[in-house]
Amino acid sequence: MPSILSQPGTTPPAASPKAPLLSVRNLCLEFHKDGKVLSAVENVSFDIAAGETLCLVGESGSGKSVTALSIAQLLPAPPARYPSGEILLNGRDVLRMSKTELRQIRGGVVSYVFQEPSASLNPVFPVGRQILESLHLHRPDAAKDGEVIRLLKLVGIPAPDSRLKDYPHQMSGGMQQRVMIAMALASQPKLLIADEPTTALDVTIQAQIIELLRELKQRLGMSILLITHNLGIVSDIADRVAVMYAGQMVESGPANELLTRPLHPYTRALMNSVPQLGSNADRLTAIGGNVPQLGAFPSGCRFHPRCPKAQPECSRQEPEWKEVELGRWGGASPGGPGGAPPPGGGAGGGERAGVDHHYPPR
Ligand SMILES: Nc1ncnc2c1ncn2[C@@H]1O[C@H](COP(=O)(O)OP(=O)(O)OP(=O)(O)O)[C@@H](O)[C@H]1O
Ligand code: SF4
Ligand SMILES: [Mg+2]
Repeated sequence: MPSILSQPGTTPPAASPKAPLLSVRNLCLEFHKDGKVLSAVENVSFDIAAGETLCLVGESGSGKSVTALSIAQLLPAPPARYPSGEILLNGRDVLRMSKTELRQIRGGVVSYVFQEPSASLNPVFPVGRQILESLHLHRPDAAKDGEVIRLLKLVGIPAPDSRLKDYPHQMSGGMQQRVMIAMALASQPKLLIADEPTTALDVTIQAQIIELLRELKQRLGMSILLITHNLGIVSDIADRVAVMYAGQMVESGPANELLTRPLHPYTRALMNSVPQLGSNADRLTAIGGNVPQLGAFPSGCRFHPRCPKAQPECSRQEPEWKEVELGRWGGASPGGPGGAPPPGGGAGGGERAGVDHHYPPR
């Protein structure tokens, strides 16, 4: 089985079969506040190919949103700072772009849809006018009612020519989220980032919005980064899945493989905490404890205080991000199969009992 060696600090991203539209490499993000430096994201790497949907999952506070907001540099800086890493969009590093270039990619190449449509829509303007404004900004030649109606139709709003005069409060939550998606599509983005777009909606509407995103991806050929802590919706839409915990990536891979055969104990624990249709299990297994706070990440493997498989080594040795199977990436011991020798020398290349026991899984 091929195994790509990775050296600490030069971790290649999770491989994707097509050329990546977005390639995040070893991204580190810190918040500088009151004289303190809090590391929020550490050495995160992933790719999204053109036309591909990547789902980013993990519990609340694991760093999904700050990673996504970093892609178009939407976090206020300060307090945000990027000590190292790259965010390559079509091969250009966003972290080194001028303000003018950043303005061009925001809402142009990359568009966002957030959790609460009612908080993002302006209550005092009709929805059609708000979509028109987005068109004026990004595609002035297309800024006409006809294009607004086409976009509303595209996102499944019935009778769009009459609904464009509606104010947000005249629409249901699901309709408002469709309007937000129409606004995001107005610029014909290459990458749509949807951060918990269904969390504020009831379950049937959630399913409709996920179905809409899937259809739009197929019709428009755009890439999607979908952030959710709900693994239940991931199998419906993801090509690939990446799992974050405490500011680090712990596992990524093709959705069908990762969801049927999760390698990392954290991914398995997340999956066990999701209700499965048709399952005979009497109760769900909650993950004990909480995601650690910024500035209080445990030593070694950050998951060790909550991990049912933890061994004494886990609190001392930080797993290294590497390709553990073809196309599948995860944190494993530097001394394990396919890994580089541990920093400072020592016994590399052989399986270290205890730390590596989830790669390969038993
Ligand atoms: N502007 C900021 N300044 C300081 N800390 C921040 C800032 N924004 C986010 N954080 C912290 O960064 C960590 C990661 O936050 P993030 O919002 O990315 O989590 P998340 O995985 O998206 O969680 P959720 O599922 O609840 O949305 C959290 O501890 C959060 O408090
Ligand atoms: S390194 Fe140890 S604590 Fe971390 S996930 Fe693997 S077994 Fe659990
Ligand atoms: Mg979030």
